[in-house]
Amino acid sequence: MNQSEQWSSRIGFILASAGSAIGLGAIWKFPYVAGISGGGAFFFIFLLFTLILGLPLLLAEFAIGRSTQKDAIESYKAIAPNTKWHFVGYLGLVTSFILLSFYSVIGGWIIAYIFRTITGQLNGISAEQYGIVFAETISNPGISISVHFLFMLLTVVVVAKGVQNGIEKANYIMMPALFIIFILLIIRSLTLSHASEGISFLFFPDFSKLNSEAVLAALGQSFFTLSVGASTMVTYSSYVKKSENLPRSALSIVMMNIFVVVLAGLAIFPAVFSFGLQPDAGPVLLFQVLPNVFSHMPFGILFFLAFLVLFLFAALTSSFSMLEIIVAVISKGDKSLRKKWSWIIGFIIFLMGIPSALSYGPWSDITILGKSIFDAADFLVSNMLLPLGALLIAIFVPYKMKKSVLMEEMQHGGGFAKGLFNMWYFALKYIAPIAIIFVLLDVLGVWDLLFG
Ligand code: PHE
Repeated sequence: MNQSEQWSSRIGFILASAGSAIGLGAIWKFPYVAGISGGGAFFFIFLLFTLILGLPLLLAEFAIGRSTQKDAIESYKAIAPNTKWHFVGYLGLVTSFILLSFYSVIGGWIIAYIFRTITGQLNGISAEQYGIVFAETISNPGISISVHFLFMLLTVVVVAKGVQNGIEKANYIMMPALFIIFILLIIRSLTLSHASEGISFLFFPDFSKLNSEAVLAALGQSFFTLSVGASTMVTYSSYVKKSENLPRSALSIVMMNIFVVVLAGLAIFPAVFSFGLQPDAGPVLLFQVLPNVFSHMPFGILFFLAFLVLFLFAALTSSFSMLEIIVAVISKGDKSLRKKWSWIIGFIIFLMGIPSALSYGPWSDITILGKSIFDAADFLVSNMLLPLGALLIAIFVPYKMKKSVLMEEMQHGGGFAKGLFNMWYFALKYIAPIAIIFVLLDVLGVWDLLFG
């Protein structure tokens, strides 16, 4: 019965999947993780992982979803009946639960900033004051929980209606508008006094700064930004028509994503160095840096507000996909169940996110393995669960799906030349599992133990 949902057009599917992919990962997470992990070298490894692992895996999720036209659990069951492989789907659900719980906290920060901007509290203050205002905002439990609640509310309202009705049309305007405002921002950022230091920080790799944690972070980041490893893209591609050209869609999503990552980097790093801020400030980086850039622009407050609204939209189109995969499994295409369960699951995720929201305020002293609750949740999802899910999908597709079925999926709507198909297949079957296992073992220190 999953067929009750379908994207209305080719571009609808690409925009929705790109909407899922492009979000906090590219705009907020990439700059701060790159800032902590040494800049250029991190960016280089991230690009490499995105192209040789992320792209093939995105296409693998598309192949599972479109060939079965079923949700994140049933699709694995349909391909490998009477096996345990559908646990990959459950893993995706668990990942989405935890991910959305802290994702929504950051989404809430955007809402809080929108309020602050509208009420004029950011007018004419200095670079340091932005940092202080922001720290006050996120450490205030009342504010951070309320805006986290609002973000979840917006997510639930749309998913309860059905993602297709909810977002397809808005995507047409919001995405290009976000690109335009980024370009304005970059022009300003690049003309600041120490812009070149930011550029070299981001683009000139210094591999001596790279350690095994940074490599794992780059791996996690490439999956995170493409929404790969949680069966999200399995779900979204199950709503797509057979006539769709999957390889082309996957490639455009990857390219758009890299484009946004570069835009965000170009907007942020030149400004970091020009305003004397620190690139390794962590999750607060974007929120401290960008208001400064806008305040050095004519009509800066208005542009900042427009940016925040578009940024919020980008975050929401990603959060929809996280809730959608869970709701699709439970409601099985039944409209009234979809409504009811969107609200119930949304509320549970709101509750789960409260500790993350508090971890920047009253609970900042509580740590799990040396990380705050928020950082621990993020680490678990980005650097453990998504790579694990991706690893299992990379094994599942070539070993459990028939080559002829895969070939057919890739041929619809134009498709792949044979040589490209073989490259994709090889990347999935050999490169992805070996690379992911290698990086995971490296972080656990296994190589050092064996060879060190
Ligand atoms: N890709 C989304 C982002 O970058 C996050 C995401 C990860 C969404 C995994 C769904 C699944 O913001």
